[in-house]
Amino acid sequence: MSGDTSYMNKHLWELDQELFTMIQDEKNRQKECLEMIASENYTSLSVMECLGSCLSNKYSEGLPNARYYGGNEFIDKIEILAQKRSLATFSLDASEWGVNVQPYSGSPANFAVYTAVVEPHGRIMGLDLPDGGHLTHGFFTPQKKVSATALFFEPMPYKVDPDTGLIDYDQLAQSARLFKPKVIIAGISCYSRVLDYKRFRQIADECGALLMADMSHVSGLVAAKVIASPFDHCDIVTTTTHKTLRGPRSGVIFFRKGVRQVKPSGEKVMYDLEARINAAVFPSLQGGPHNHQIAGIALCMAQAQTEEFKNYQQQVVKNAQALCTKLQSHGYKISADGTDVHLLLVNLKSVGLSGGKAEFILDEVNIACNKNTVPGDASALNPSGIRLGTPALTTRGLKEHHFSKIADFIDAAVKLGLEIQKKSGPKLVEFKRVAVEDFKDQIEKLKNEVKDFALGFPLPGHDDY
Ligand SMILES: Cc1ncc(COP(=O)(O)O)c(C=O)c1O
Repeated sequence: MSGDTSYMNKHLWELDQELFTMIQDEKNRQKECLEMIASENYTSLSVMECLGSCLSNKYSEGLPNARYYGGNEFIDKIEILAQKRSLATFSLDASEWGVNVQPYSGSPANFAVYTAVVEPHGRIMGLDLPDGGHLTHGFFTPQKKVSATALFFEPMPYKVDPDTGLIDYDQLAQSARLFKPKVIIAGISCYSRVLDYKRFRQIADECGALLMADMSHVSGLVAAKVIASPFDHCDIVTTTTHKTLRGPRSGVIFFRKGVRQVKPSGEKVMYDLEARINAAVFPSLQGGPHNHQIAGIALCMAQAQTEEFKNYQQQVVKNAQALCTKLQSHGYKISADGTDVHLLLVNLKSVGLSGGKAEFILDEVNIACNKNTVPGDASALNPSGIRLGTPALTTRGLKEHHFSKIADFIDAAVKLGLEIQKKSGPKLVEFKRVAVEDFKDQIEKLKNEVKDFALGFPLPGHDDY
């Protein structure tokens, strides 16, 4: 390509077959596979058009009408539109809530919040990762501060009750009284029940903490009013926009404005979150906003206000519940005994197949999910469960009876896994070897059934890439 700029206007498929084939392979995998990773979804063709637009070319450091570069007349309009629609999607009044739509994704959004409101080595409390929290809620192990949120801040995790799988709010309250965190994080990556934001608020008030919800996983359900809104009780709310919200891969921070508290003397204490959070996003942590993503946010927030979106989110939950019921009828134990949301956690301890082996065999038969710790697991490296989510497949149009069929596929795969394990013994490497060497035909047969089933449902986006 050296010296020749004619390539600048060629299509990817004309220019780079090697790369294009890889993208096509991924598209085919998405078509042929049952995508059950709870954090994934298929975004719309129109969001993809925003992501592939000229907006990717533009630098616009700063905020609308206060930029460090020229030429931002239209970029300003787009960002203001994304802000307005984000507030409208969650029925927020602009005099009480502000929003920053510039975080590159969920992790930078969370880090920006702590940067804004917690001093270095200040204290935060989040749900422990093995109990269903996220890395960016302060994950560390005895050996390592795994997340930078544990390196630069001092986290203390709270836990779920190992018997019920439900958050132990009493224990959280007790720890918070002693630890006195600056921020309590109410958010999950793997927890199938609705959060009690009112209780979180009481606990935060008791120790003077700010309450932050990370609604990344459930923001689509909140937008559609299928589950309770964190906005009624929180000071700050962060979200990704690519999970249940079905938008571009990006992040958003909402923050309260106006009066925080009226003292007994009548003196008003005002929120000071807006300037601090905006400055934390830029210039503290990020540079130029990703304007193509911000346009995608504007679009997905408008889509999230439609009746169709509400129906979609209701279906997501119905599907998760149908999957849950059928798996329970096959004898599987579901953590927290069911689901109110888009995901469920299958506890495989009593089945006798590890989460890692289940994930592997499911992947072999074209069902994508992830191994996950279940309450009481001793090792995060060898978890006993799998997390299953319904958002992506619901986007493809699957209904309750389809998920009942999927439960049968999962059951068949787990039973095949147990057969393999009888021959391989407990080691995962051996299990994988025996599976591909000695159970090739059984795997192929089930895989083809799953593939034929999956191909019956369309995928949004470009046809073949
Ligand atoms: C609750 C929660 N917060 C934050 C994130 C981080 O988002 P990202 O992967 O976009 O950085 C995730 C991602 O899975 C999440 O589940």
